[in-house]
Amino acid sequence: MKPRKIKDKIYWMGFIDWDNRLFDSLIPLPDGTSYNSFLIEGSEKTVLIDTVESHLAGELLAQLENVSKLDYLVSLHSEQDHSGSIPQILARYPDAKLITSPKAKGLLKDLLHVPEESFITVSDGETLSLGDKTLEFIHTPWVHWPETMVAYLKEDKILFSCDFFGSHIATTDLYVTDEARVYEAAKRYYAEIMMPFRKVIKKNLEKITSYDISIIAPSHGPMYPRPEFIIDAHRDWIDGPLKNLVVLPYISMHNSTKKMVDFFIASLAEKGVSVERFNLAVTDIGKLAITLVDAGTIVIGTPTILAGPHPNVVYGAFLANALRPKAQFLSIIGSYGWGGKTVEILAGMIPNLKVEIIEPVLAKGLPSEDDFKALENLAETIAAKHKEKGFK
Ligand code: FEO
Repeated sequence: MKPRKIKDKIYWMGFIDWDNRLFDSLIPLPDGTSYNSFLIEGSEKTVLIDTVESHLAGELLAQLENVSKLDYLVSLHSEQDHSGSIPQILARYPDAKLITSPKAKGLLKDLLHVPEESFITVSDGETLSLGDKTLEFIHTPWVHWPETMVAYLKEDKILFSCDFFGSHIATTDLYVTDEARVYEAAKRYYAEIMMPFRKVIKKNLEKITSYDISIIAPSHGPMYPRPEFIIDAHRDWIDGPLKNLVVLPYISMHNSTKKMVDFFIASLAEKGVSVERFNLAVTDIGKLAITLVDAGTIVIGTPTILAGPHPNVVYGAFLANALRPKAQFLSIIGSYGWGGKTVEILAGMIPNLKVEIIEPVLAKGLPSEDDFKALENLAETIAAKHKEKGFK
């Protein structure tokens, strides 16, 4: 794709990755993604903000075909989907200086072997004159790596935010046209990589909203012509109230756990509690992550195998612990054959979750009447706790 004009002397470049279905060999990409770069031609200096994956460097270099001189290459974030082509860009423009935060310098030297002499590091709030345009660099650490920063183009009121406010969507739309679609994709993106850092992201959010922003230009997905849409969404995801919702990731091997899950979901629904159920054998982990953003309670369903929880459940619990959702309650349900330490193992896997553990329900083999009664009580307890907390 050729460069696309955003405003006078400001262009989108990069790559729309329609076919990629798995990011970092971990994160599902149901709608592909994009790696956005931005070229700004000031009256005196020309700058490129961010690059693309290393194997896509040829695409970016072709878009730069008519750019004879590049004065600066800005790296807002060192992860390779944005930094990967830095060596190739610097090879084409050997006089260009690479502008980074001080922390990014060390990372890029390690990750890409960028030579010391290429770097200029910028402090928080430092500005760079391009002649008739001015870039201000704002340090926004831990969005989602320690070195991340954003850049504000003062005259045009554009905030180049890299991963911050990103969404994994492959689209020819330069700007958001369907906010509902982008809301879901951006929430998924926030849940998958930003949620663990929400406390520091909250501070960064307040920091950047003191700027007069007309457009937010992230390095994944379309740009936001109505910045308050995505800023308000982030405020809600970070700090908003929890929902009267149970997220229920589970596995069943011989249907006993599934019978318990089915009964339990019906019981919660009767008591006015919503449930999102995820079969970990087949689920899209991104959808599970979205639900974890604001669910009040997590209930894990698992059979016992090899004396502990099913390996897929271990994976789900590991992810939930790493993502640090806001949930306040957690319980475990499931079935076992002759013994094991399922509850102890799972409880030990979630130290990051600041939850009250509600008494688990484990059935020996096929669930009995007593087990169903215990599930009914568990549903009653959760409904009462949600009501007490005012979850809506
Ligand atoms: Fe889009 Fe953290 O890289």
